[in-house]
Parts: sequence; structure tokens; C-alpha cells
Amino acid sequence: MRDDDGVIRVDAGGWGTTLAADTMGVLHQVGLGPDGHRAALDVDAVWYPQAFPTHGGGDPFLPSPLRVTHHDGTLSTRLVLDAATTHPVDGGVHHVVALRDELMALRVELHLRTHVASAVLEQWVEVEHDQPGPIRLHDYDSIAPLVLVDERAELVQFGGSGWADEWRWTTQRLHPGTTSLQSLGGVQPHLQRSPVALVSPSGPADEDSGEVVALSVAWGGNTRIDLDVRPGADPTAPRQLRLRAGANPYGAEYVLDPGVRFVTPTVAWTWSASGRREATRRFHDWTRARVLRDPERRRVIVANNWEATFFDFDEQRIVELIRRAADLGAELFLLDDGWFGASRPRDDDTTALGDWDVDPAKLPHGLAPLARAARDAGIRFGIWVEPEMVNPQSDLFDRHPEWVLRDRRTPREHRNQLVLDVLQPEVREFAAGVVDGALAHDPDITYVKWDANRPITDAGSSTLPADRQGNLWVDHVRATWDLMAQVVRRHPDTELMLCASGGGRTDHGSLRWFHEFWTSDNTDPVTRVRMQWACSHVFPAAAMAAHVTRWGGRPMAFACAVALSGRFGLDLDLTTLSDDETAVCRRAVALARRTQDLVQQGELVRLVSPVEGDDTSRAALGHLSADRRRAVVFAYQLDASDATPPTLRLADLDPHAQYRVRRTDLRSDEALQDAVRSGEDLLAAGLEWPCDEPLTASIWELEALDLPG
Ligand code: GLA
Repeated sequence: MRDDDGVIRVDAGGWGTTLAADTMGVLHQVGLGPDGHRAALDVDAVWYPQAFPTHGGGDPFLPSPLRVTHHDGTLSTRLVLDAATTHPVDGGVHHVVALRDELMALRVELHLRTHVASAVLEQWVEVEHDQPGPIRLHDYDSIAPLVLVDERAELVQFGGSGWADEWRWTTQRLHPGTTSLQSLGGVQPHLQRSPVALVSPSGPADEDSGEVVALSVAWGGNTRIDLDVRPGADPTAPRQLRLRAGANPYGAEYVLDPGVRFVTPTVAWTWSASGRREATRRFHDWTRARVLRDPERRRVIVANNWEATFFDFDEQRIVELIRRAADLGAELFLLDDGWFGASRPRDDDTTALGDWDVDPAKLPHGLAPLARAARDAGIRFGIWVEPEMVNPQSDLFDRHPEWVLRDRRTPREHRNQLVLDVLQPEVREFAAGVVDGALAHDPDITYVKWDANRPITDAGSSTLPADRQGNLWVDHVRATWDLMAQVVRRHPDTELMLCASGGGRTDHGSLRWFHEFWTSDNTDPVTRVRMQWACSHVFPAAAMAAHVTRWGGRPMAFACAVALSGRFGLDLDLTTLSDDETAVCRRAVALARRTQDLVQQGELVRLVSPVEGDDTSRAALGHLSADRRRAVVFAYQLDASDATPPTLRLADLDPHAQYRVRRTDLRSDEALQDAVRSGEDLLAAGLEWPCDEPLTASIWELEALDLPG
């Protein structure tokens, strides 16, 4: 709101930011954080940082979120406040702060959209101009707040070495200088680095205490989060952190024509004054309310054939796997890569991508018998596609070599494939048709896994003029999102899983068209405990597909227990399980049916960290129902440890309730503990650490009893 005093107060639900223009019209940030709404302000009397500094806008020492070369070559941009408006939107308020460059006919709007119930603020920037010719945007961040931090300020970031190494947890001290978290590659940038960061301005935070600024760049392309720290004027003064986040402009200078509106990605962020759990609760609420499709729908228990067969299967083998999956209690069978390629069979990853006819050698009767087998067995059927890609060894490429992204050079193959140029409308239509075609095989195909298995290396599109090839990086994401939106419009009831060589597209932007994502191809349960722990900071378990495989050769009971704390599924050869393993999987599926609603919809409570502290050999987490009457708690012993085992205290249980407490270990049918304990006792005495050996797990189910009287 812009009050009579000219102050713009953005209340994001218990925290916010306050902006005000000085007498020259320059916009300042006069408050930020839980106390971001100070009343009496004299912006001319006190120094406040610019709210959205621009290159050439007065402060030569600030990294600016907006850097423009204007039509006539002018490098500076100076913005003054034009108007501030607000209007109510579902669950919050949309503030538009319009700024203008009086000399250069440039308008910049800061958009701040609150979602008060979740206390997450969505922020983006829109740029437009009426100059006689195009301008060039060199930097175009979505947010640029100035955060006062002390010398103990910390950053948690999630970047690994690439494929199968997503969501690696790194904590680092924020020293003076710039820390720049960038991802590249366009199609699967989050394999490299997740577009998420947690900043603790006043030193290390934990689950229940400390300040945490959590942010996520909702962008399916390259992202950049820059943290520029300056020392205070004297050792006791706070340091200044300029936090910029948005699309990565590296190699992506954007040429903008007059009258065209450039919209930056949305950055979603929140400021918790009470630790990481609160930041997580907010992000989960917001993801359910504003991002995830069908958030209330319990996700199905998937049985996938990828790790069981890879490309090597036929109708009989798949039918066998379908029956086995149904027998174990799975709810959907997902046929992965390898089912297509009429003239060149898809027997490995070298051929047929782009040729979406069923391979007659593997599946002579098409997909219908498989969908029928699933229906007869009482489960659903889903299918894998990779609509944005092509093998040069394919009929599609023979017909349309001009459909790929490339510049004048011969494009380089990666996983033997090239990226289709979805900026071309006919290519987009083709790619949407891939999903139409796959679903048209049988009305019982109701689930699609959408994959994308290589990055962009040969950035160039025939749709863009020579002087604006750099626009590709932004326009490609928009075109891909158009394509995804098109598919959702055509198939509103089909459930969609988002995959890009594992978790290459795990962002809150792309996820809007999907029900869940494939968290990582790395399914070694020891690694997965840590990945899921990290990912859980901003994504609820409903979004995080977790399948039991044989990666790492870990005990089956342990692998199942780990997958059960995400969106549970199985991806292993169910026909060669030993009797013991079959019994374990059966128990796991039964447990999934009892607990997945809680895991997916409940409130997450992280209890013992496998990524921080002196002892990272254990992990524990729980999920609590909204009414506090049910909970499920997972404890994992990853490695041997001499440290004293922790006691697990699930805060927020109802102290007056009596809970039935059942502890199971998937290795056995017996409940290892089945007792009634009061909420008060559970809160005070907690649950004793249950596991003794490495690679074992225990699961508690807690349910409040309805006692007579
Ligand atoms: C990617 C996915 C896997 C699988 C293969 C198929 O690597 O992440 O789950 O679908 O492609 O080629």
C-alpha cells in the first residue's frame, strides 16, 4: 500500500519490505525483514539504500540488478518513482511500483505479490521502452534487496558436480566480496546448481531458531544468485549484503524492441525469524497453494521399469512386470524409455529419439495390450517421452535437420542427441503432438514422465535475427513453458512428472505444469537421504519422486524406508526379487498406502541432520497431520557412529492426546514397539534412537486414540 506519507509498505505476512521515494523521486528501501514496516520515516534525513539500483543510477559501487545500453548508446539508467498501485489478488496483494527514466523513455515496474497465508513474497520486474530502436539488457535481476548481516552470516547452497549429484548441501560463511551461484546449460541447469539459497543474516540458524532468508528462482533456465557483501564502516557496523537473484544473463544479453514488455522470472522468498523449519513450512504452503498441480491429490505409488530393463524389453516382459507391480500393491506402471522407433529401434540412446511410433519388434501389438494388462491388474499406466529432443539417427532429423538449435557450426551431440528448437512454432506443435500421440495409444494411459536429457551447447535459433541470438536463453524457457502449458490444456487430467536427466528442472517455475519431479537419477539411498533432506527445504515430499532401486547395493529394507519419506515408488526388477525382498517391498507398499498422505500433505519436521554437525551418520524426520492426531517418523542410520544417539522429539504433538505408537522395521512383520503413550510423555521423553547397525531404518506411526469419555 502507498500511504499518505508516500511510503510503500509490502506486508508479506509477518515480514516485509518498506519502500519510499526521496524528494528527487529515487526509490529507497527503508525497511526489510520482520521489522520491515517502520512508520515515521524521513527518507531525506537518513541514508537508505536504493531499492532497485541501476547501472549509472548514482551509486558507482553497487552491483546493479538492471544494466541497459539504450538505443543511442547511453549506458546509464536513472529511475524515479512514477506511481505505486496495489490491487487485491487471491490470498494477498499485488503491488506495482512503476519507475521511469525521464531522459530515456524507459519504464521499469517492480512487481511484489504477497501470499500472506504462506508469508512468501513473489517478486519480478517488467521493463518496457519507447525509444526509437531496440535497447540491450545486460543484467535483469528480479530482486535486489539490501540485507544487513553480521560477520557470522551464512549461506546454504545446493550445487553438485552435475548428473546424479543434485542437491548437495554446502554451508559457507559469507565473507566480503561476491559469491555468485550460477547455472548454465539452459535445459537442465539445476543438475549443476539448484536455483535455491538459504541465507542466515545473523549467523548460523537451525531448525527452530535463527534468521533465515530463503529464496527460490522460479525459472526453468539458467539462474544466478549473487551475494555481494561489503564490510561495515567500522568493525561494529553491520555488513551490507546486496542479494540479487533472477535469470542468469551470462551470454544472454537481451535485445528488446520498443513496445515489447520484458518480464523477468519470479523470485519467491521469505524471511523467517524462527529458523529453517518455519521457512520450510512457508515454502511448502506456498508451493501447494501457488505452484503444484492438484496439491491435495495423493500421488500414486509408481512402479517404473527403467532400472529393471533399461532399453531391453518386450511385451511379455513388461506384462510380467506390470502383474508383479500390481501384486505388490503399486498403483501405476510407468513404461520408460525404449518403447518407440519404428524404422530405427530405440535399443540404446543412439537412435530413434523423435520417431514416436511404437517399436514393432519390441511391442508388435502396440501399447494397448500393456495398458490393458495394467487395467486388468487393477492399476494405471503411464509412459515416458522426451519431446524436446532428437537423435540425428532418426527419421525426424532426416526430414527436418533445420529443427534443431544451432548456430552456423555443426551442432555437437550430447548423449547422441540434439535439442529441438521450440522457438519454431511448428516444432512446438510437433513436441505437443508427441504427448498427444503417446496418450492416444490407449485411453488408460493417464500419466506421463517428461524427460530432457541434454543441455544446450549450440545456442542459436533460426527464428532470431543475427543481432539477438542472445535472446535465446530467455526465449527458450518461455517457449518451453508455452509448450508445457499447451500440453496441460490439451490433457488436463493427465498426471505429469518432470524429469531432466534426473533433477535438472527442479524449479518452482517449470513445476507449475507438473505434479512431481524426478529428484535425481542417483537413488543410492544413503545419498538420497541427504538429497531429499536438502530438497525438502523448499519442496514438499509430494513433489519429490523417490524410487527404490538397487543403486549402491544397499539392503532392500533401508532403500524402501528412504523412498517412503518422499513420493514413494519402485524401480527395480520385481520378477527377480528374493522371497525376503518381496516381503520387504510388500510391507513397504502397505506402509506407503497408510502413510503417503501424511508424508505428502503433512507438515515436515526435520529432526536429525545428515548434512551438518559433527556426526552426519544419522538422519531423522517426521510428517505431522494438520490436526496433530497423526504422525510418521523416519530414522535412518547411514553409517557407524560412536556419538551418543539422539532422542527424537516431535514438537507440536497434542500433549493431552493418547497416541498409539507403532515402530516397525521393514525387515520384519512384527511391530518392534506397539504402545500407548501420552502426547505429554512423547513431547518430554521423546522417541529413543532405534537403529543399531549402519544401513538400517525404523519407522514410527503415531495415531491419537479416541478414548471413551
Ligand atoms: C534420464 C532419466 C531416467 C530415465 C532415462 C531414460 O536419465 O532421468 O530416469 O528415464 O533418462 O533414458
